[in-house]
Amino acid sequence: MSAEIIDGKAFAAKIRAEVAQECAAFRAQTGVQPGLAVVLVGNDAASEVYVRNKGIQAKEAGFNSLEYRLPAETTQSELLAQVAALNADPQVHGILVQLPLPAHLDADAVLNAIAPDKDVDGFHPVNVGRLWTGNPVSIPCTPLGCALILKDRLGDLSGKRAIVIGRSNIVGKPMAALLLAANATVTIAHSRTADLAARCREADIVIAAVGKPELVRGDWLKAGATVLDVGINRIAEGEKTRLVGDVHFASAVAVAGAITPVPGGIGPMTIACLLRNTLACAKALHGTHD
Ligand code: GUN
Repeated sequence: MSAEIIDGKAFAAKIRAEVAQECAAFRAQTGVQPGLAVVLVGNDAASEVYVRNKGIQAKEAGFNSLEYRLPAETTQSELLAQVAALNADPQVHGILVQLPLPAHLDADAVLNAIAPDKDVDGFHPVNVGRLWTGNPVSIPCTPLGCALILKDRLGDLSGKRAIVIGRSNIVGKPMAALLLAANATVTIAHSRTADLAARCREADIVIAAVGKPELVRGDWLKAGATVLDVGINRIAEGEKTRLVGDVHFASAVAVAGAITPVPGGIGPMTIACLLRNTLACAKALHGTHD
């Protein structure tokens, strides 16, 4: 038996089409075009690619896409002033400061300065609290993408056991909150977890988000499990390099019921969810929250 391979690219395109349709309806109703501001400090190559793709997909969905490119030597107070200006700008409904920031900047202080109602990453402590207490507007984009895929395939998760491998603020912790909200029984595993393979074999749903190439092997999985691989790791292969996830795909595909590939699985969902969050913020700011 071989697992069904989940097409994250196709699912993300469907989400973007839904957001584009809702964005047009919101504009027709209110006269307001949702605006997404992305701030990029310095010239990290991977960040340049992400930011370019965000801009293209935001425009395609009918959003006003604003980009602020600041030099690598930008000071903390200059960056905070930029965030304050965007907080006050009525054209802007969503603000995203691209991470990682250059090392001399304090990322936590910058994220905490973003107005919670414009925080489309869902990283502000107010939004973390809203997520755990069950009333979120913005939800961190990558775990939201995972949750939408699970909902589409499995519906309500009552009675299901889920394991989240990784406890980051960006993926692991918000993922656990979303699984709990969907009624799963959740284990959060990490580098200090004893007998990780055995804990993993108990799970109907495995979310791998640790950044360790090919950590989760087929013999760690329960037969028929749904496996979502959030890892993006570049490994050397001879002279070249190759992208792999946190799951050893070849062995896992023989045991799982369904699995996301890397690339083309969870990755494309992230920007689709960013657009979804931006529209949710615009609706909340204009009193049409549904
Ligand atoms: N860098 C890589 N992924 C992300 C993300 O989801 N949000 C932000 N702000 N920066 C990132």
